[in-house]
Amino acid sequence: MERRKIIIDTDPGQDDAAAIMLAFASPAELDVLGLCAVAGNVPLSYTSRNLRIVCELCGRQDAAIYEGARKPTLRPQVTAEHVHGRTGLDGAELPEPMMSVRSTHAVDFIIETLRSEPVGTVTLCTLGPLTNVALALQKAPDIAPRARELVMMGGGFFEGGNITPAAEFNIYVDPEAAKAVFASGIPIVMMPLDVTHKLLTTKARVGKIAALGTRPAQVLVDWLAFFERFDIEKYGSDGGPLHDPTVIAYLLKPELFSGRDCNVEIETRSELTAGMTVVDWWRVSGRKPNAKVMRDVDADGFFALLTERVGRL
Ligand code: RIB
Ligand code: CA
Repeated sequence: MERRKIIIDTDPGQDDAAAIMLAFASPAELDVLGLCAVAGNVPLSYTSRNLRIVCELCGRQDAAIYEGARKPTLRPQVTAEHVHGRTGLDGAELPEPMMSVRSTHAVDFIIETLRSEPVGTVTLCTLGPLTNVALALQKAPDIAPRARELVMMGGGFFEGGNITPAAEFNIYVDPEAAKAVFASGIPIVMMPLDVTHKLLTTKARVGKIAALGTRPAQVLVDWLAFFERFDIEKYGSDGGPLHDPTVIAYLLKPELFSGRDCNVEIETRSELTAGMTVVDWWRVSGRKPNAKVMRDVDADGFFALLTERVGRL
């Protein structure tokens, strides 16, 4: 496969960290142009700190990091310390980062990169709320046709929600941003809870990562041990769903996933179902498809890829 240029927009988050590790472990396939921190799981100050910690763990002190939105486009900030811990990256003790962030705002970095790179060559990979991307589209609508595609973790349909019965966290935090992105015309690949809930960090799977015996692998195991405890308690499962690495795994091995083109609309008016992704899987609405919605995944193949690549760090 040709080497793809990507921008990662993220709210680390232990599962975001796993996705970033997977990306950095795949330099032959992925050219990470920059990583943008957004407020999400924890406030921006922590997502920025955490992003730098992950880059340094991967030996990528050279990575270009940009700070983005401190709050959603319209609504008050909602965070998820109950899942990710006070810092958002609880579970492993690591030194405070030494590397700095770039002075350009993440929104301007997204705009400038899409304008300067050849049309159709840059893929946006979003692992958190879509605030930065929505602000970039609002400030520079001309960038929409310039993006190759946007691969995002977010939403849910037959699986429902996680932060509310109807809504998944990344969409729930900023439904207006998600609405704008799904209306932008950018080709979207959606990784919803219907996929990620089939990717449980079982003892056997995490054991294979631990068996790598490297420091990055051990840190990831410690992060996952913290991250999964909330979902194990909630679902009574062996391990918890691993969400964000699906975005990067799709770029590396799209054949691991299957889904179909669907219309996806975002609920922004109802208090009860705010942030719900209304996925027309059975095409009953007559609305035009605006996303490739994934529903199934080869779970063992996904974890084999993640484990093999993390072992390269
Ligand atoms: O609902 C799961 C998503 O919300 C993941 O991206 C996780 O990191 C949190 O941001
Ligand atoms: Ca995330």
